[in-house]
Amino acid sequence: SQLGEIELRHHDKDERSKKLIRDAIVSNSLLQHMEPQQLDEMVACMYAKTVPPGCHVIRQGEKGQHLYVCSEGRLEVTQDGKRLGAVGQGIAFGELALLYNCTRTASVKAESSAKLWCLDRTVFKAIMMKAGLEKQSDY
Ligand code: CMP
Repeated sequence: SQLGEIELRHHDKDERSKKLIRDAIVSNSLLQHMEPQQLDEMVACMYAKTVPPGCHVIRQGEKGQHLYVCSEGRLEVTQDGKRLGAVGQGIAFGELALLYNCTRTASVKAESSAKLWCLDRTVFKAIMMKAGLEKQSDY
């Protein structure tokens, strides 16, 4: 299958970063129900990205290509031009479009320079599929 051919490439990171990503995923109500092996794989596959102040990381209405965890900085969340909230260190975001195959529900813009951990949509889907299939084969 297509998903079987996705390479789950690991990106080196220190223990503190692994813990930050893990805690962010577990604190997200929609992501926290993953299997431990899926969580490990997501932590391993996330890669770092730095964005400048004013950078639109996510634009409302677009197709979602990445899941993010904020490791440093602050980002503003807006919907139809109205402020919904903010995202800071240790928060996972961008999960809705990936989980529900919908367009981005809000825009997310860096208020300061920000450091993010990113996971590509294809990798996210492959990790979700992989554990699902391994579970099925237990029966
Ligand atoms: P997604 O819809 O993929 O892209 C925009 C993201 O903003 C969304 O996923 C959530 O992760 C995040 N988001 C949506 N609403 C809020 C909110 N009220 N406060 C903080 N983050 C939000």
